[in-house]
Amino acid sequence: MITLAIAADHAGFPLKQKLMNLDEYLWDDHGTHSTDPTDYPILARSIIPEVLSNRCAFGVLICGTGIGMSIAANRYKGIRAALCFNSEMAYLARTHNDANILVLGARTISDDVAVECLKTFATTSFEEGRHLGRIHLLDIY
Ligand code: RB5
Repeated sequence: MITLAIAADHAGFPLKQKLMNLDEYLWDDHGTHSTDPTDYPILARSIIPEVLSNRCAFGVLICGTGIGMSIAANRYKGIRAALCFNSEMAYLARTHNDANILVLGARTISDDVAVECLKTFATTSFEEGRHLGRIHLLDIY
């Protein structure tokens, strides 16, 4: 069973709790733990060490739109966080971008679509080939 690091802000908290009911994954929950207002950059940062060290298979970040979490997570070298709003995007995020964090917008997609995105992301491998050099170019700055 794979372990997934997960974090959400207050807007993403209810969806985080729903995803964590999926018992085909082990969950490393970094919060938040209620709908009390919190700050997405802090929650995003909390899972970065788990992802970069490969202690988890990949990370999941959730906020209202997914935009704040995407901006925050992609500031860290080695992180490829992909905001997905359907399973095709989740598939392409893995096959083309070797994304290591799935970002979801709790206020912009349904819970069912979020689950589909997660399942696709978890079962899809990086294609490598022509995409490998592009991934390496991301970290040259
Ligand atoms: C919180 O209201 C909201 O701004 C946050 O969850 C997120 O959507 C930011 O990008």
